[in-house]
Amino acid sequence: KKGNYDHFMQKEIHEQPQSLTTTMRGRLKGKSVILGGLKDDIKTIRHSRRIIFIGCGTSYNAALAARPFLEELSGIPVTMEIASDLLDRQGPVYREDTAVFVSQSGETADTLLALDYALENGALCVGITNTVSSTLARKTHCGVHINAGCEIGVASTKAYTSQIVVMIMLALDIGDDKVSTKQRRETIIDGLYNLPNIVREVLKLDTAMKDLAESLMDEKSLLVFGRGYNYATALEGALKVKEVALTHSEGLLAGEMKHGPLALVDETLPVIVIATRDGCFSKQQSVIQQLHARKGRLIVMCSQGDVSLACSTGFCRSIEVPQVEDCLQTVINIIPLQLLSYHLTVLRGYDVDQPRNLAKSVTTQ
Ligand code: UD1
Ligand code: F6R
Repeated sequence: KKGNYDHFMQKEIHEQPQSLTTTMRGRLKGKSVILGGLKDDIKTIRHSRRIIFIGCGTSYNAALAARPFLEELSGIPVTMEIASDLLDRQGPVYREDTAVFVSQSGETADTLLALDYALENGALCVGITNTVSSTLARKTHCGVHINAGCEIGVASTKAYTSQIVVMIMLALDIGDDKVSTKQRRETIIDGLYNLPNIVREVLKLDTAMKDLAESLMDEKSLLVFGRGYNYATALEGALKVKEVALTHSEGLLAGEMKHGPLALVDETLPVIVIATRDGCFSKQQSVIQQLHARKGRLIVMCSQGDVSLACSTGFCRSIEVPQVEDCLQTVINIIPLQLLSYHLTVLRGYDVDQPRNLAKSVTTQ
């Protein structure tokens, strides 16, 4: 049921304070994280030689958002695989690997075929899914249900943020035996407790995002630049814009800007730059300066109060978001972009919940 909302996508975006609360329920105990579904295997995961994240679409992007924190806390190399590409290449997977399969539905054909492949190769296979009793949940050795509640809109929104939070909790659980990172872990756990409140706050940007959507309604294309944790936000924001608003959009790694994409920038093309506070902030400031020098039509996403600092060289529109711990910032930053793609779709008169040519669960290759 849609309740007071016009569309499921809208409802699911606004539901995120609650869905994130349910995702974390029973899993945060004081200053530690306990994932019941991994308790028999966590030692094996800690001793694996490599962790491989495998998924498609939004689920892949969620894993990409969690990757830097998992690398930091585990010290284990974490590699990324789009399920179909792993299968196309028949890439190497070993017994010493932990393969983590991320899938909202738990029924995506490519992800399930990649799971069969990893099982044949002897890896420990971990599932992260929203669907109890799905094929993924049944066939993996162990895993974590994200408990985000049923997601009906074809465009994934609340499952994305819940998946990120589960993978952040996975990193905290894996790193739980290390004294050297205790302080860092405790800070993030405090941040997790507070996250639903901050999500409630960032949802207040709804009207501002509707206004921004009005100004972008007739655009043919939109670029989104991010880096570090927020490379995933750039990819996921652009995916939402293309799949529901049917507008061409590319999520780009800001570090790659000068290696090609900069050629596209002129005074007509809108460009979103994600420049919230984290270890990449000063690099993003210089990206913004360079885009200004090319007369780019900038929309800068920055931390509250940072507009003049982020955009010191000239006029730009801004999206100011509350600042949270670096590894949790992706959960906050995607929300204005979800709202933007929702409003763009409604304004352009397209079907929000059933985008053209797409299915909720891709059960064929
Ligand atoms: C479980 C219960 C939950 C209960 C809690 C109390 C279920 C589905 N969950 O939650 O209702 O409140 O204990 O302690 O009954 N699994 C996989 N692959 C996956 C996902 C999960 O193998 O992709 C397995 C897990 O390893 C675990 C089981 O499914 O054995 C349940 O996982 P999860 O719901 O995440 O576990 P808990 O959070 O402990
Ligand atoms: C985008 C979207 C898709 C899915 C992808 C994987 O909004 O929903 O990109 O994320 O088809 O689906 P799951 O997570 O069910 O494996």
